Amino acid sequence: MIPRQARDGAGVWVTFEGGDGSGKTTQAALLEQWLEASGRSVVRTREPGGTDVGALVRDIVLHHRGDIAPRAEALLYAADRAHHVETLVRPALERGDVVIQDRYLDSSVAYQGAGRVLDAGEVRNLSLWAAGGALPDVTVLLDLDPQQARARLDAADKPFDRLEAERADFHARVRAAYLELAAADPARFLVLDATRPAAELAAAVRARVEPLLA
Ligand code: TYD
Repeated sequence: MIPRQARDGAGVWVTFEGGDGSGKTTQAALLEQWLEASGRSVVRTREPGGTDVGALVRDIVLHHRGDIAPRAEALLYAADRAHHVETLVRPALERGDVVIQDRYLDSSVAYQGAGRVLDAGEVRNLSLWAAGGALPDVTVLLDLDPQQARARLDAADKPFDRLEAERADFHARVRAAYLELAAADPARFLVLDATRPAAELAAAVRARVEPLLA
């Protein structure tokens, strides 16, 4: 599957990216509400874990006690992605639905590539292979300083998963990697300052998505 420009009559695919605690889930929910109110058929999903197979993978990558070899971790996310795109995202787009997705391959490049010891280009190619080359129409990057993100997570008072528990320099590298990805593909990315009020962010997302719905 290929980007929208070459996907005749297909649906619209929006992904949300950003560090942990950047507000992706809130923005995905607001976009979903707006689209549903305007009568669009929406599929809201996430990686890892958007399918039954994905839920099993999610449990390993987020909750396994002990180390996972970096290449194994990259392959687990890629396996989740391959199954997710093939069985859920692609059919929804072919039906003409709007797919709103929390995290996609940019997460792998940022977290496994830049955040870890793997080559970012190799991680990207692995994901592209897994997903048959599929790229979203719009990727909203909610950019947030990792220290502010940490304060939000602390305030939420939930136990940390494996990746959230990584050190501050890891999260700083993830942020930098995301900003580099966005700069390299401005046609796909919408970068927003995640400290802005949620309603303002939602309006900016709607303005970017609306022209694609025609
Ligand atoms: P999740 O609970 O979905 O994230 P959030 O904290 O944003 O709600 O957990 C997903 C975690 O998995 C998150 O820390 C980022 C990480 N991740 C990767 O490392 N690589 C990937 O390819 C994906 C999709 C997620």
